[in-house]
Amino acid sequence: MVDAVEFHDRMLSLGLARVSEAAAMASAKLVGRGDEKAADQAAVNAMREQLNMLDIQGVVVIGEGERDEAPMLYIGEEVGSGDGPAVDIALDPLEGTTLTAKDMPNALTVIAMAPRGTLLHAPDVYMDKLAIGPGFAKDVVSLDMSPAERIKALAKARKCHPNDITVCILERPRHEAMIEEVRATGAAIRLITDGDVAGVIHCAEAEQTGIDMYMGSGGAPEGVLAAAALKCMGGQIWGRLMFRNDDERGRAKKAGITDLNRIYALDDLVTQDVIFAATGVTDGSILAGIRREPTYLETETILMRSKTGSVRRMQYRNPTS
Ligand code: FBP
Repeated sequence: MVDAVEFHDRMLSLGLARVSEAAAMASAKLVGRGDEKAADQAAVNAMREQLNMLDIQGVVVIGEGERDEAPMLYIGEEVGSGDGPAVDIALDPLEGTTLTAKDMPNALTVIAMAPRGTLLHAPDVYMDKLAIGPGFAKDVVSLDMSPAERIKALAKARKCHPNDITVCILERPRHEAMIEEVRATGAAIRLITDGDVAGVIHCAEAEQTGIDMYMGSGGAPEGVLAAAALKCMGGQIWGRLMFRNDDERGRAKKAGITDLNRIYALDDLVTQDVIFAATGVTDGSILAGIRREPTYLETETILMRSKTGSVRRMQYRNPTS
């Protein structure tokens, strides 16, 4: 953990929303066109351009991949004008490339910013994740519990029956046993085909979304982004990195991670104040998607600061030329 540093999050937050909006607008023409790569590239280009206009000394710690895999917004890329505070940037210019290409719900552009050295440099491997919303005692559920135990513990804390709990899970063959175990408790499952940052955020607004808990494995970078959102909105998340081979273990080592079995809680993933912005690309349960009208584009963005716990929803209309 680094010492607390001055972080002018209030001043920087609107700039961050602009970055997120720009990425969404750039991908607008590619919603439903069946081309994941083109949609992602458009979002990456726009995000990078806007990010470089901010007065920050930024370093991408969660980005499009290692330098040799991603020409832009790669891990370690310096972004911003070079003036202003030294910050870590975590981003996913298009979270849900397939959702965008197929015009399915909850594709987002996502970015978080925090003082330098305060976001986990998560390697591009899987992470086993568990998340719940605000209002529960610390560690009321844990990654060491079985899926059924987690549901029973959450139901007990909520003073309800497991039948009243809804869990969000990525629909993947690797989750089949988990899904079966969750169903056996009587809990409901909302299966999603992609987009676990949105999946986790759902827990923070359980009353509106109907989701009480998120569990299962997905990208570790997405885990840090989801933690940044929960740090602002309230809630708890735990993650444990998962390695399939030596190459993945090597990625962790390169990122400075020595304890490969560590369970990271929210404050380990994001150790200090953070600001977070996400813009809807396709319509979803958290944000409306981009509206394309003949003369303008309209986006909806959620902009949040952990320092104040403020959650702002912003509509932006921009004329198309
Ligand atoms: P992309 O937007 O990069 O396609 O990622 C979507 C996503 O669903 C993430 O939200 C999730 O963490 C990850 O992919 C899951 O990976 P996998 O598809 O390999 O199960």
